[in-house]
Amino acid sequence: MSLLAFLSLTFLLCSCSLSSGASNPNSIYESFLQCLPAQSPRPDPSFSALVYSSVANSSAYTTVLQEYIKNRRLNTTETPKPDIIITPTQESHVQAAVLCARKLGVQIKIRSGGHDYEGLSYLSSEQNFIVLDMFNFRNVDVNIATETAVVQVGAQLGELYYRIWEKSKVHGFPAGVCPTVGVGGHLSGGGYGTMLRKYGLSVDNVIDAKIVDVNGRILDRKSMGEDLFWAIRGGGGASFGVIISYTVKLVPVPAINTVFRITKTVAENATDLVYKWQTIVSAMNNNLFIRITLQPTTVNRQNTLGATFSAHFLGDSTTLVAEMNKILPELGLKKEDCTEVSWIQSVLYMANFDINTTPIDILLNRHSDNVPFLKRKSDYVQTPISKSGLTSIFNKMVELGGVILVFNSYGGRMNEVPADATPFPHRAGNLFKIQYQITWNDADPEAAKNYMNQSRVMYEFMADYVSKNPRSTFLNYRDLDIGVMTGTGMNGYRSGRVYGEKYFLGNFDRLVKIKTAVDPDNFFRNEQSIPVLP
Ligand SMILES: Cc1cc2nc3c(=O)[nH]c(=O)nc-3n(C[C@H](O)[C@H](O)[C@H](O)COP(=O)(O)OP(=O)(O)OC[C@H]3O[C@@H](n4cnc5c(N)ncnc54)[C@H](O)[C@@H]3O)c2cc1C
Ligand SMILES: *[C@@H]1O[C@H](CO)[C@@H](O)[C@H](O)[C@H]1NC(C)=O
Ligand SMILES: *[C@@H]1O[C@H](CO)[C@@H](O)[C@H](O)[C@H]1NC(C)=O
Ligand SMILES: *[C@@H]1O[C@H](CO)[C@@H](O)[C@H](O)[C@H]1NC(C)=O
Ligand SMILES: *[C@@H]1O[C@H](CO)[C@@H](O)[C@H](O)[C@H]1NC(C)=O
Repeated sequence: MSLLAFLSLTFLLCSCSLSSGASNPNSIYESFLQCLPAQSPRPDPSFSALVYSSVANSSAYTTVLQEYIKNRRLNTTETPKPDIIITPTQESHVQAAVLCARKLGVQIKIRSGGHDYEGLSYLSSEQNFIVLDMFNFRNVDVNIATETAVVQVGAQLGELYYRIWEKSKVHGFPAGVCPTVGVGGHLSGGGYGTMLRKYGLSVDNVIDAKIVDVNGRILDRKSMGEDLFWAIRGGGGASFGVIISYTVKLVPVPAINTVFRITKTVAENATDLVYKWQTIVSAMNNNLFIRITLQPTTVNRQNTLGATFSAHFLGDSTTLVAEMNKILPELGLKKEDCTEVSWIQSVLYMANFDINTTPIDILLNRHSDNVPFLKRKSDYVQTPISKSGLTSIFNKMVELGGVILVFNSYGGRMNEVPADATPFPHRAGNLFKIQYQITWNDADPEAAKNYMNQSRVMYEFMADYVSKNPRSTFLNYRDLDIGVMTGTGMNGYRSGRVYGEKYFLGNFDRLVKIKTAVDPDNFFRNEQSIPVLP
């Protein structure tokens, strides 16, 4: 189903929940301009400068809207647009925005870094909606004495890493690989990076949070209670309120880290290597993370498959080479293949920057040039895929041509954290996670159809090799193909269960209970939010 078909279908199903029918964008703008100062906890004349209307400020509105669209597939004239964008600079603005959206009965979408793979932070299947854009909330307050940081949601991961590095070369934080990902979506959705085998997910290292709830109250861990605090560490923030900041625990990192990247084709035993990797990945040294990127390639005009092993090791190259020669000697890792780097350089390396020529402050750059069209999907693997299975997967990839599979090693700390400690349930028992990537630059809608189809064909092909009943999915790799909320009441709950169990397994029911307690009227909703109990 195309995005458009999907949106018109879900619109038909969802519009029943709108009591007053469609409103025009200009009247919504006027209503908000009147409401915001009235609902603000303190007198504030600044609202008109913080609200962008698609009518009154169309050019600035378009610039603001597009700045944090990170998927060109969702940057078309057909992509549904918000009536207004509110860009708060203070907590009281957030409170007023929530209260007014409730009062006026308009859906609110919350955006921090805009990296949602399906754009749920800035598009909607409902006729009228507004975007609360949190990009101004980007303070990062690092305290080395307490080894903590308070990080606002609109900061990007690169800013968090940079601010830590400014104060200490032996502290870091376990979060994602792409520096422009926003803290708001990333931490509320789980968040993982190359230190997950040593320190777990980002959410395993969150110790406090600040949120504006459906009643416009500002709550911290103590006042929100342990249930809501549990939910917003992996259950997705957008079902529960507007998160303002997270307080995180920094982790120790060594002064010397080691990285390498080695590609082997099928003719160079890639199949055996990937097979063997699966059998050692769970139990290998916790300081080591190895990602395998599987990609069709051409050698001597023959189509084949390449497997790129990228590693980040929290330690020196001598130790790493010894470790690799113990667990995966077939890869033949040598000291010359390795680069010893500081932790912050490892961040650049794993994000595919050239560490010799790229200044560290690239991590502060929030703008993305040339955003591509993309679609992502995910799976979990619990038993090693046989060599013949790998061979048929590689053949299928070569046949399709455009799909890349990324295998991310689990195990280590991920096996120790109980599956119900946070909403993120994919812990012990998972060997690795697969991300399906397809990326293109051709603006022709027919091309998009073909690429979307390739990604779905590959996903279907993989069914036998991955987790089942339900087929597990990573929330931060948002995928609307696995189900969307349709309707309200019992229908909403039933449709929510379909994707909810794939994202949260046994934690879904607790999320529903918490959602029902903190937001019984389902004000904070989206196409894949946690449903309320009917
Ligand atoms: C290039 C790229 C690389 C990535 N790499 C990684 C990676 O290495 N590891 C990983 O774990 N993930 C990765 N991701 C996925 C990423 O973690 C998720 O897309 C994440 O949700 C993005 O957060 P955001 O704030 O940028 O997104 P947004 O689109 O702003 O938000 C995502 C979701 O969170 C909600 N939300 C955002 N802010 C708030 C808030 N303040 N309060 C309540 N709800 C909120 C939104 O409404 C939306 O539903 C990557 C994504 C991209 C595009
Ligand atoms: C949008 O336009 C109105 C009317 O011209 C103006 O008062 C307001 O300040 C503008 N808002 C922004 C954010 O520029
Ligand atoms: C979105 O499209 C506009 C042109 O309409 C372009 O200027 C902008 O760079 C695009 N942004 C993204 C993220 O694709
Ligand atoms: C592939 O593996 C075989 C034995 O399993 C070995 O003899 C051969 O040298 C390997 N090829 C490469 C290119 O490493
Ligand atoms: C999707 O791709 C498959 C295999 O490549 C092809 O058989 C099928 O017709 C395609 N479907 C659509 C809707 O394009």
